[in-house]
Amino acid sequence: MAPLIVENVTKRFRQGDRDVIALDGISLQVQQGQFLAIMGASGSGKSTLLHLMAGLSSPDGGSIRINDIDIGQMSDGQLTLFRRRQIGLVFQSFNLIPTLTAEENMALPLMLERHNASRIKSRTGELLEILGLTARRNHRPDALSGGEQQRVAIGRALVTDAAVILADEPTGNLDSVNSRSVCELLRDLSAVHNKTVVMVTHEPAVAAFAHEAAILKDGRLMQRFALDPQDAGQSLAMRYQQLHS
Ligand SMILES: Nc1ncnc2c1ncn2[C@@H]1O[C@H](COP(=O)(O)OP(=O)(O)OP(=O)(O)O)[C@@H](O)[C@H]1O
Ligand SMILES: [Mg+2]
Repeated sequence: MAPLIVENVTKRFRQGDRDVIALDGISLQVQQGQFLAIMGASGSGKSTLLHLMAGLSSPDGGSIRINDIDIGQMSDGQLTLFRRRQIGLVFQSFNLIPTLTAEENMALPLMLERHNASRIKSRTGELLEILGLTARRNHRPDALSGGEQQRVAIGRALVTDAAVILADEPTGNLDSVNSRSVCELLRDLSAVHNKTVVMVTHEPAVAAFAHEAAILKDGRLMQRFALDPQDAGQSLAMRYQQLHS
């Protein structure tokens, strides 16, 4: 059973006196250890889809199943707990707490779950090592580079051993060197650590780190295909352009 199953999902928004159809019947599955990039022009529905997968909003039709649980059927309280444990979220803007250190930011979901201090210390220590942040553990976000801040945010997403990691334009605020290291990290999480990762991006060179790309247009899934790891995004960029010309 795939850890993430989206079935015929629709989502409308009211804008003034008209309805905008943001998602128009999307179905997709992501298997364990897969890394899927979701691409599409601005307004095609990428963030809306990711927010639904994260349980941050609910669909008007269809269902989202995470580890075989329909998240649309949960109460708000159940969903809050489920999100904290099973969904790792990474945003373009990092969303770290400025008064906490790198290590404390990463530990936050475990502290909210009231895990004991030694368990928290060993789990964050392990992740700081994997993320190459051990030497930066006591720094606050304003003393970290953009790439380091995003790695802390990824650590926070990983700390509870979530079923899926969802990232919305995670490289949007990064320069090319940091962008590459975040992409490599996300790829390793799937390829080495068997995590299920979904990343939204509009940059073919970023999407090229994923195993597969899904392309949205006007709230519909137009194409989904495997990516060639040697390609660095060129054929993806061509396909993408063809679809939008
Ligand atoms: N909260 C909202 N209220 C009203 N309309 C919304 C809302 N959120 C999204 N929309 C509309 O839904 C459509 C899809 O938006 P979405 O944010 O998912 O696009 P996107 O693909 O993430 O775009 P971008 O690349 O610019 O981030 C757009 O037409 C947008 O205006
Ligand atoms: Mg968006």
